[in-house]
Amino acid sequence: MIAFKKGPLLKWWGAVLVLGCVHAPLAAAGPAQGKQLFEAKNCGACHQMSGPVEAVPVAQRSKIKGPPLWFAGSKFKNEWLIAWLEKPTALYRVKYGTLEQGANSHPALSKADAQEVGAYLMSLTDPALKAGAVTAEKLNRRKMLEAEKLFTKKQVCFGCHQYASKQGDIGGFSGPSLVGAGNRLQADWVHALLKDNVRYYPNARMPVYGNQAFEAFTDEELKLLSQYIGNL
Ligand code: HEC
Ligand code: HEC
Repeated sequence: MIAFKKGPLLKWWGAVLVLGCVHAPLAAAGPAQGKQLFEAKNCGACHQMSGPVEAVPVAQRSKIKGPPLWFAGSKFKNEWLIAWLEKPTALYRVKYGTLEQGANSHPALSKADAQEVGAYLMSLTDPALKAGAVTAEKLNRRKMLEAEKLFTKKQVCFGCHQYASKQGDIGGFSGPSLVGAGNRLQADWVHALLKDNVRYYPNARMPVYGNQAFEAFTDEELKLLSQYIGNL
């Protein structure tokens, strides 16, 4: 770093430089460039990029190194995804695909690369997901309490997922944390997941709640749960 005295002229040039840096990658960001970067950085070594993926026997699951991303554009909120790719934080508290405690370290991307890879990932949507089943809306206190009961009492979702309760962040570790899930997940995808989680995670230890054989919730309850997760 060269040390300059901070004169008004330098501040002005600084502003031009900063704006330039922010604008250039935005203009260049696109799914095609993002896909090239994704491949060049070998991200696919740990993430499955086409799906639905096959279920494998339990004994082989610890070989799966990361969550499938073939439906990333249906699952994530764009802003969260780009910010996370630049500064990944631990979502899982177990080594992925196992029940061994411990955080997964994750490669980080530069801001510019995160924009491009983010654009690529957001272009990958699940063609079977019909958008618009659930409206992402702020729930009032009564609805929040009703939904929290579904989440903690009707089924024990929080046995595997951390969430922000009145007592602070509580819950188990074997599933990803749902603290701040409203910033991360699209409500329609959460609804689709709860109706048919095997479609997205055939190799995960999440119970099936939404199929005909085991009706744990009505569809109205699943919609409320999806909205609730959108408020977490
Ligand atoms: C060594 C294996 C590995 C590599 C290489 C890797 N990832 Fe990951 N990825 C993981 C694991 C494990 C997680 C779960 C992290 C956690 O605990 O939060 C993850 C999580 C993610 C998530 C969030 C997924 C979700 O469903 O919550 C995205 C997005 C992602 N990775 C993108 C990438 C990109 C882009 C690259 C290349 C720059 C990459 N990954 C390289 C293993 C890997
Ligand atoms: C026995 C443990 C377990 C229970 C109980 C459980 N889940 Fe999960 N859940 C998981 C695991 C594991 C994953 C991650 C799958 C993967 O990445 O392979 C997951 C993923 C999710 C996700 C996606 C989160 C993300 O950021 O990727 C949501 C939302 C979710 N579960 C909601 C629920 C709800 C709602 C319930 C209760 C009706 C529930 N889960 C019950 C284990 C569980």
